Formats: sequence, structure tokens, C-alpha cells
Amino acid sequence: MKKIRAVIFDLDGVIVSTDEHHFRAWKQLADEEGIPFDRHDNERLRGVSRMESLEIIMEKSSKAYSAVEKQKLAARKNDIYRELLKGLSPSDVLPGVTSTLQVLRERGLKIAIGSSSKNALPILQAIGLANAFDAVVDGNHISRSKPDPEVFRLAAQRVGVSPQQCLVVEDADAGVEAALAAGMSVVAVGSANGHPKATLSAENLAQITPDEFLLASVSSSAESRVSLIDCSSTANFT
Ligand code: BG6
Ligand code: MG
Repeated sequence: MKKIRAVIFDLDGVIVSTDEHHFRAWKQLADEEGIPFDRHDNERLRGVSRMESLEIIMEKSSKAYSAVEKQKLAARKNDIYRELLKGLSPSDVLPGVTSTLQVLRERGLKIAIGSSSKNALPILQAIGLANAFDAVVDGNHISRSKPDPEVFRLAAQRVGVSPQQCLVVEDADAGVEAALAAGMSVVAVGSANGHPKATLSAENLAQITPDEFLLASVSSSAESRVSLIDCSSTANFT
């Protein structure tokens, strides 16, 4: 069992419900362009960079777009997204996040953000968590987005903890793969709840006790993976 010394949180869909804002912005753009796009398609965009997300959406387009047109569409999506973010407030922080951060701090762990988003800082400011982390690594600092492990490796480096002693919290399949590729344990929440490769799995952070969370460690044996999907009696952080 490895002792966890740092926890790296994905942002969109883990800390805050901005995954829904992403969907609504992409949906508006796709509708404007006449490209079919639904929530099922949206699952493939989780954790993936803006330009890669656009490429995935365009798989269903009958029109071929030039590089310049693609840049314009990505900028348009970001404008729509940023407009939606104007309504963002601390009430959008997802269940269990604030208390989890508090407990990790009290226990002396480093906490960091590892996100593919280039909007991470304004989002953290809007939800009142701009100063809550020891390091924020986002889409502005990396050249390869998830499932590449770059963002998590860099976050571990920034907080001075070896990847083997880091735990990642993710809601995206691409993020789970990125964490594993970095040699880190993974807690899968939200859309990734029940991910077969996660060390621990739950609907949200409010369903995981501090000890369950901190005992999550890298293991290749399926028996050691704990699932809280159907667990109704888990104690919350206090
Ligand atoms: C990730 C989201 O956090 O950030 C993706 O899960 C998004 O859906 C990516 O595409 C990039 O976000 P942004 O804010 O830079 O467009
Ligand atoms: Mg996410």
C-alpha cells in the first residue's frame, strides 16, 4: 500500500459543474453549423482539449472546414462558454468538494488542479477557490491533453510529490487513462463512476469517507478496487 501525499483534482465535472456549460456551448455551436450533436457524443469530449473536441464534433459534419474556419469555430464556442460562465458562483461547486479539500489540508496533503481547460483560473476565481490549491496546472501549461499524462506529471512536479504518491480525481475516461499512464491512483466520479480501471469509484466526493479516499492506492488486482456505486451508508466528511 503506497501512502498518498498529494491529490490532483480534475476541474470540469469534478470540482465544479462546468461540464454542463461545455455541453451547452458545444450544442449551440453544433446547432448553428447544422452538425448533429447530443449528450452521448458529448461524453467523448470530457477531458479532451478544445480543438480536439471540435475535431470530434466535426466527425458528423458533411462539410470540410479549413484550419482558419476551425479556429474561428473554437473561438466562437469559447465565447458562448464564457458567456455561460458569467452565472458561475460558489454554489456550483459539486457536493463533497469543499469538505474534502478541508480534510486533505488538515491531514497535511498537497492538493492541486490538473485540467485540460484554458479557462481554469477564471473558473476557480468565480467559485471562490482561486487560492485553495498548492498548484494549478491547466491547458495553458501543457502541449498534449488527456489521455496523455503530461498535465498530471506536471502537477505532481509542482507540488514536489512523486507520481506514485499522487491520487487523481477524475470524471472522464480520458482523465482516468492519463492518471494511470502517469503511474497514479484514480478515484472516478460522475461520468467515470464505475470505471473498471479506477481504484475507487463513487457518484461524487460526498459519498467517499476520508479514510477510503486516502487509502486508495495503485493496485493491479481487481479485488482491491472498491466501488461505492450502490453504497447507501457511507459517512460524509464533517
Ligand atoms: C476539460 C473539459 O476540462 O477542458 C473538456 O473536460 C474541455 O470538455 C477542455 O474541452 C478544454 O476546455 P477549455 O475551457 O480550454 O475550452
Ligand atoms: Mg472533467
